[in-house]
Amino acid sequence: APAKPRISVIGTGYLGTTHAVCMAELGYDVIGLDVDAAKLDLLRAGTVPFFEPGLPELLTKVQGGGRLRFTDSYAEIAQFADVHFVCVGTPQRKGELAADLQYVEAAFSSLAPHLDRKVLVVGKSTVPAGTAVRMEQLLASQAPCKDVELAWNPEFLREGFAVQDTLHPDRLVLGVRTEWAEQQLRAVFAPMIESGTPVVLTDFATAELVKVAANSFLATKISFINAMAEVCEATGADVTKLAEAIGHDARIGRRFLNAGLGFGGGCLPKDIRAFIARAQELGVDQAVSFLHQVDAINLRRRARVVDLGQELLDGSWTDRRVAVLGAAFKPDSDDIRDSPALDVAAAIGRRGANVLVYDPQALDNARQLYPDLQYAASAEDAVRDADLVMLLTEWREFRDMSPERIGTLVRRRNIVDGRNVLDPAQWRAAGWVYRALGRQ
Ligand code: UDX
Repeated sequence: APAKPRISVIGTGYLGTTHAVCMAELGYDVIGLDVDAAKLDLLRAGTVPFFEPGLPELLTKVQGGGRLRFTDSYAEIAQFADVHFVCVGTPQRKGELAADLQYVEAAFSSLAPHLDRKVLVVGKSTVPAGTAVRMEQLLASQAPCKDVELAWNPEFLREGFAVQDTLHPDRLVLGVRTEWAEQQLRAVFAPMIESGTPVVLTDFATAELVKVAANSFLATKISFINAMAEVCEATGADVTKLAEAIGHDARIGRRFLNAGLGFGGGCLPKDIRAFIARAQELGVDQAVSFLHQVDAINLRRRARVVDLGQELLDGSWTDRRVAVLGAAFKPDSDDIRDSPALDVAAAIGRRGANVLVYDPQALDNARQLYPDLQYAASAEDAVRDADLVMLLTEWREFRDMSPERIGTLVRRRNIVDGRNVLDPAQWRAAGWVYRALGRQ
């Protein structure tokens, strides 16, 4: 294995940009490739096209050091790199549960014809089981060099912690066919392996499945506690205490037991749906039929938040002023893909409410996707004269709001805490009618 492999990263979305920057930070020479000229212009100018704490600083640093550049040329990256990471997206297909693999297929078939020496191509995209074998066949039939090899190396980064998760992953999953491929990957990830990151060596199918299994488990954990929240609402119990209590059992664990509006984003929802679709094709749909419930429980929370708001408005949304705090699918992100907050905002807008949405980072994205909603420039602007405040994404600045201060701005002191992050006693003491999911 070369002492210091040269690296290409195909696809400069969330995963690819983070991976390219972090590989350069580890000391490698890296080229990022994208087919989107506008994205490349931004990146070349040192701008990260999405919000991710710490990433812009790191991009500037590695660009300054000359270790990272960007191109749209597959010929150029083929000439340059010893290891190619494929980091393109696999979104949900329109009107279907299945994942859309067109970008993965395009990346492999654009790269393959240029591969005239033995290199390693590493799939990082989240794909249905069986994709790696197909991409291996594609390389075998279309690459001029017959020794090109494939590996699969899923990525588990969380938005908002992308740099940390990439540089210090919980584990490295290396799906390989040969010892040579294993050695290449061990060389690339040597800095992490030396600092103790566990390595799990697998075949292709397992590597592909690890990612969807992990995300299915996380989604199930969230929907489990949200199902308990429904029961709590019917019994007078408090789901936040319930989560705390069961979370002390180390076998269960407290993390990912925050009941509320549920999961959204570019990963969990589409990954469980794609898993359902793939399981059907494989004839094992029964094995993952519970994921239908996970999805359904998750979506019911959105409807429940709308009901809670409606109760506080005495049954009618018409012409009521509603402040929606949060648009991103979670805090510390500007990502609005499948955002529960915006889904709810749109739903109450359709019911006739006068909705004003505020988010610290996601307003530009929200405006594009929901041009019919109204947006405020600050949380205070959003809540001014409101009949109801709905906290739907738990940004720090919303958690830290003073009920007294906000109380002087609104018309009526009604609040729905869609993420269970406020102290009910404190808000009630300040004269608010406080409602939340899964607690009284
Ligand atoms: C997720 C996985 O965590 C990550 O490992 C994978 O690589 C990609 O998908 P991400 O989508 O960035 O990462 O967000 P995450 O922090 O996992 O949150 C997902 C959603 O679940 C958010 O909408 C969040 O608000 C929600 N959530 C999370 C809850 O509702 N309750 C919780 O207890 C935790």
